[in-house]
Amino acid sequence: KRIVILISGRGSNMEAVVRACHAEGWPAQVAAVISNRPQAAGLQFAASHGIATGVVDHTRYASREAFDEALAQEIDRHRPDLVVLAGFMRILTPAFVSRYAGRLLNIHPSLLPAFPGLHTHRRAIEAGCKIAGATVHFVTAELDHGPIVIQAAVPVLPGDDEAALAARVLAKEHVIYPRAVRWFVEDALQVDGLQVRHRTGEP
Ligand code: GRF
Repeated sequence: KRIVILISGRGSNMEAVVRACHAEGWPAQVAAVISNRPQAAGLQFAASHGIATGVVDHTRYASREAFDEALAQEIDRHRPDLVVLAGFMRILTPAFVSRYAGRLLNIHPSLLPAFPGLHTHRRAIEAGCKIAGATVHFVTAELDHGPIVIQAAVPVLPGDDEAALAARVLAKEHVIYPRAVRWFVEDALQVDGLQVRHRTGEP
């Protein structure tokens, strides 16, 4: 299976997927890492691991549609079976989402359906949540609402600020995202509406 990963910045989730793919010998390869920001730190990691990199700079396109079309062309050069959004901070058009329907995964730093959108950790703290977490889901046209593949929860501790909670959640992201991608490339996931089942019954 061929995986293309989209990033916008640090790329620590991308790194976790690349490392797990190599270490666990998945039946897959990360064919390319593509960023919408030329300066994204994650591009260096990818290049230093022999992975093709690309940049499609959204500031150079007049519309979301034009950007998404250019992005899709760059992605499709690598003939992916799966496109992984890993800290990719652009909202995608319905045309883009439907082009990759069923093979587009995202990680979101909240326990969806709570806190879609931005500033999830701050909002969880302000809401007085005792539990926070992260969600890997298939991407559908509605932002942060697709079928959920896996979630991880962490406690919100007294005195937590946004950074402390973000770090605790991020450590879990690095566990669940590789797991979800591995299930996908092993053909272990079955999607039925919003329900995602693991064929072997793995929780
Ligand atoms: C992660 O917390 C991800 O869930 C969020 O943005 C962050 C990206 O981090 N959407 P990284 O680029 O993977 O290090």
